[in-house]
This record gives sequence, structure tokens and C-alpha cells, in this order.
Amino acid sequence: MNTVTLNNGVEMPILGFGVFQIPDEETQAAVEAALDAGYRHLDTAASYLNEEAVGLAIKNSGLARDELFITTKLWIQHAPAGSVQDDTKRAFDNSLRRLGLDYVDLYLIHQPLGDYYSEWRAMQELHQDGLARAIGVSNFHLDRLVDLIDHNEIVPAVNQIETHPFHQRAADQAMMRERGVQIESWGPFAEGKNNLFTKPLLSTIADAHGKSVAQVVLRWLIQRDVVVIPKSVRPERMAQNLDVFDFTLTDEQMSRIAALDTGASLFFDHRDPAMVSWLGNRRIN
Ligand SMILES: NC(=O)c1ccc[n+]([C@@H]2O[C@H](COP(=O)([O-])OP(=O)(O)OC[C@H]3O[C@@H](n4cnc5c(N)ncnc54)[C@H](OP(=O)(O)O)[C@@H]3O)[C@@H](O)[C@H]2O)c1
Repeated sequence: MNTVTLNNGVEMPILGFGVFQIPDEETQAAVEAALDAGYRHLDTAASYLNEEAVGLAIKNSGLARDELFITTKLWIQHAPAGSVQDDTKRAFDNSLRRLGLDYVDLYLIHQPLGDYYSEWRAMQELHQDGLARAIGVSNFHLDRLVDLIDHNEIVPAVNQIETHPFHQRAADQAMMRERGVQIESWGPFAEGKNNLFTKPLLSTIADAHGKSVAQVVLRWLIQRDVVVIPKSVRPERMAQNLDVFDFTLTDEQMSRIAALDTGASLFFDHRDPAMVSWLGNRRIN
């Protein structure tokens, strides 16, 4: 599997499997099928409420731990001031226990909300203690990311952000590259919004390569050095989404896809006060 090298030297597979919105009772089977298909990089989160099922699938696979790259995420901590660091470590321990692991490969702050500076300080210690091989963030706009970098010791290895043909994040990626932060796409297919799978421009390019639109989108992201974690519960699509290393999009095809960018989210705005408040008040346990 092709990898990217993170800012601390850790190798991260450029393609993985995401498990957001897979119901807990279906997750174990889906992850077992994904591991069977050849995925070695899994992306979950405490807030997806399916870490235990991911852990069972890992255990049943019999794969060696060092063959796998496992990411999970910290949900917003609601502890009173002063105890967020302790609560972050407790939340991490709970994720490890649910996953049945001794360490994770990547631990992310899920949202740039609440006291995430205290969360980050606890995560720096988790990293220094060898419990998270790399630490990073998710959903951070550049201003929040740069502020976090400038006031802490460890530069986040990754920022996992909404990235797909309709919200391409080229400027974000350029600045993140300058700061040593790897971009990772969530929602590479925009969850099918905006008729992604039937967009004529994407279908034409797919036909030219004898590939599907999904494969073209993943290939386009990978050629931009964006880490991708597509989700599917269907084994045939899992296999299809992995099979993107035997063709190359031309510069002209890359530029045609670039023209689909709207520069805006299709999901939510982390600067919308109503959304900030809704996310910030969500309790997961
Ligand atoms: N950090 C964050 O805040 C955040 C937010 C969202 C997502 N994520 C992560 O990113 C991962 C991926 O994003 P996502 O799950 O939101 O959406 P996505 O991967 O963009 O889209 C998933 C959708 O595409 C369909 N699909 C998958 N492969 C396909 C193919 N080859 N052909 C046609 N349809 C296909 C799936 O249907 P079927 O399952 O029926 O095949 C599902 O409806 C998540 O699972 C999660 O790990 C993170």
C-alpha cells in the first residue's frame, strides 16, 4: 500500500476505510470484509459509537498489529476547567479498551471546539508516552490550526477535513504543507451529495479509463497527495475503492475536475454559531 510520511516519520497508508454512520451492529462484519478485501488502515471515532465492533474485527482478523494503521478521535470533553487534560486521558483509555489495542497509530481531536488546547496538551503526553504514534486534528480551519501550532510543542501530524470534488481545499492543503500538516479527506464522495456518482464530467473521465466515478475521485485525491478513507458497507465497492493504483489521471483530467470546486462545505460550517453550539453540547456518554 502506498503511504505518506507524517511530520514525525510515521508512515500512513494513503488509502483507508472509514466507518462513520455504519450502525454498531453492522460494523464488525463491515470491517471484517474490509480487512479481507485488503484494507490495513481504519478510521473510527469515539463519537461513531462503534469502536468496540472495530476492535472485534481487528481481533478476529488475526493480522499482526504492526500491519495495521488505526485512527480514532477524541470527542469534545465537557469537564470543568482544569480537568480537561485528565478527562482526555480517560477518554483515550476508554477508546483503547473498546478497540482492544495497546496503542493507536493516529489520535485526532475531532472538533475545534471546547477547551481543545488542554486536550492537545494531554495528547502530546499520550504521544510522548508511546500510546499514540501520531496525533492530529480534524475539522480545523487554517486560523485555528496555525494558532494551535504556534502555541504548542507538537505540530499536528494530520488535519482531517471535508475534501471532495465540490470542496477541494487546495489553499488549505498548500498552507498545511508549509506547516508540515498532512491533509486527510473525510467524505471523499461527499456522501454522494450533488449527484457526485452521476456527474457527467466525472463519468466521462471514468469511462476513458474503464473505471468508476468513485475510483476516479479517489485517484484524483491520491494524485493530490490527499489521504482518503472512503466508507462502504458493500464488499464489491470496498474492493473497487481499493483498486485505484493501476491508472493515472492526466494533467488535463486533473484540471477538469478542479473546475468542479465550489469552495464551500456541503455539510456544515464550523463557524456557524448554531452548529458550534449543537456540536459542543452533544454528549456521547
Ligand atoms: N472527522 C470528521 O468530522 C468526519 C466526518 C465525516 C466522515 N469522516 C470519516 O470519513 C469517512 C468517509 O466519509 P463518509 O463516510 O462520510 O462518506 P463518503 O466516503 O464520501 O461516502 C460514503 C457513501 O458512498 C457510498 N459509496 C461508497 N463507495 C461507493 C462506490 N464505489 N460507488 C458508489 N457508492 C459508493 C456509500 O454507500 P454504501 O455504504 O452503501 O456502499 C456511502 O453512502 C467516514 O466513514 C469517517 O471515517 C470524518
